[in-house]
Amino acid sequence: MSLKHLLSINDLSNKQIDELLESCRSFKELLGSLNKKVPTLRGSSIVNLFFENSTRTRTSFEYAGKRLSADVINVSASSSSVSKGESVMDTVRTLDAMKPDIIVIRHSSSGVPAFVASQLPENGASIINAGDGTHEHPTQALLDLMTITEQWGENIKGATVLIIGDISHSRVARSNILLLNKRGVNVRVCGPKTMIPCEIEKMGCKVYHHLEDALKGVDIVMPLRIQSERINDACFPSLREYSTLWGMNLKRYKMANKGAILMHPGPMIRGVEIMPDLADSEYAKVLDQVTNGVALRMSLILKLAHSKQSLFN
Ligand code: CP
Repeated sequence: MSLKHLLSINDLSNKQIDELLESCRSFKELLGSLNKKVPTLRGSSIVNLFFENSTRTRTSFEYAGKRLSADVINVSASSSSVSKGESVMDTVRTLDAMKPDIIVIRHSSSGVPAFVASQLPENGASIINAGDGTHEHPTQALLDLMTITEQWGENIKGATVLIIGDISHSRVARSNILLLNKRGVNVRVCGPKTMIPCEIEKMGCKVYHHLEDALKGVDIVMPLRIQSERINDACFPSLREYSTLWGMNLKRYKMANKGAILMHPGPMIRGVEIMPDLADSEYAKVLDQVTNGVALRMSLILKLAHSKQSLFN
């Protein structure tokens, strides 16, 4: 099934998600071998256009492209002509005129990747949303799903995930809720009332305001960073109070189901939403998430490249 852009989890059918996970598993095997590179996308090119800081997403997209033998160009807004006043759309049009196959975009404003995709010509680059404002971060949710299936098997229907903390400003939470709902996973969210969006239940999740209650019966625990770069007003009295009420530690983790896993999209802020005793424990799958990020992004890049080929051949 062809896929021109990945802007939201809603762009994907369950069949396409299955296909992405299947090829992600093969690429993960490849990444564990001595020769980590395949010639599949020799001659293709990818632009990583990041208007916001990133460690995991930008690096793993770069790795993913290079492992597939594509040429990868990194453009950061601070060192581009955006700093001279050029608009986002003119920047993207300029880069697209150099004929890349894929442009990966991260931006602090929700909707920028979708807007850009709607303005490019039909034979323009495929756009991947690498995180837009508070809207979505679809590749993070996909790599999270890959990590969950590694632990729980492919049939994760009926498992329960608890997402904790700053749900309102988190694009990771939104993409995960959409994706996990598609896969029949029960999603709970828990955090201060000021950080839980009104009517979030309509997205298909259950809201809790007491962490200890929320943890009972949970298979996957996912604390989130406070997205301070997207918060203008104080949502809680102090960091100390926040970490006392919402910080995940080993003692609290043990209230979840036996065998539960701890996931975090990163960056982790130790001592705030997660304590070192849990972050460094055997239950934490945070670095597995990072490894899966490269394999998953290889699988997505390949899928978009194949879709483009079939569209124009
Ligand atoms: N998870 C995530 O998006 O991390 P980065 O901001 O480091 O890319």
